[in-house]
Amino acid sequence: MNFCVIEIENLSYAYPDGTLALSGVAFHANSGESLALVGGNGAGKSTLLMHLNGTFFPKTGTVAICGTNVLQNNLNLVRRKVGMVFQNSDDQLFMPTVFDDVAFGPINLGFSAEEVKNRTLGAIEQVRISHLTNKQVFRLSEGQKKLAAIASVLSMEPEIIVLDEPTSNLDPKSRRNLINLLKKMPQTKIIATHDLEMVIELCERTIIMNDGKISADGLTASLFCDSDLLETNHLEKPISLVQKSTL
Ligand SMILES: Nc1ncnc2c1ncn2[C@@H]1O[C@H](COP(=O)(O)OP(=O)(O)OP(=O)(O)O)[C@@H](O)[C@H]1O
Ligand SMILES: [Mg+2]
Repeated sequence: MNFCVIEIENLSYAYPDGTLALSGVAFHANSGESLALVGGNGAGKSTLLMHLNGTFFPKTGTVAICGTNVLQNNLNLVRRKVGMVFQNSDDQLFMPTVFDDVAFGPINLGFSAEEVKNRTLGAIEQVRISHLTNKQVFRLSEGQKKLAAIASVLSMEPEIIVLDEPTSNLDPKSRRNLINLLKKMPQTKIIATHDLEMVIELCERTIIMNDGKISADGLTASLFCDSDLLETNHLEKPISLVQKSTL
């Protein structure tokens, strides 16, 4: 049965310098849903995602995960349910090696040494960077860091996976592997991205953001055919849809 796992009501957020990054944002997402968050640079996507795991707390409004309001005093509970891949991998990776970073979550969750090892090596294998298991994180390329950051979330096996620009810096083969991996994963997924072709493949539903507000929320297939809507929101019709409409 589908039930609501993300409930956001009237969410507003201003950064300390006064920039109003979110204004009156509201949406719900159901268990198992794969939801895209798109919009131009500075639209508020990353700021919104960072409210889902309590990196930020609402200035106004509420964010609830599986019925629990995201508050300072229940962060552990929330972070157990929500795995977050940050836009900038350097915000996420802080241990000396890839293995240590991917193992950090399972160790914190209190799993046995064997379970930690299985989860860690399994997640590293899923994103196909086993050859980098013992490599120092600061020596990785940007794309390799992204894959290590994704593995560090997969090893926690969270109920909700939040990904901010997961395909940025990935080569075509790694991007394809990641899309195929995400397709197979039954968890609720919310993905902020400029990769609209990936959205077509992965997300039945899309939210379009502009200037800190939601300007559309609906079926990807219909939103992406609306050229005016896309243009108003600093987006461009994906090539695959342009080609289809000119056939
Ligand atoms: N630390 C900060 N301090 C002040 N303003 C910030 C900060 N981080 C982001 N902003 C501002 O908040 C707004 C939303 O930024 P955000 O990073 O959420 O956008 P985004 O949609 O993720 O953009 P992108 O597609 O470039 O990743 C922008 O106007 C941005 O300049
Ligand atoms: Mg962003």
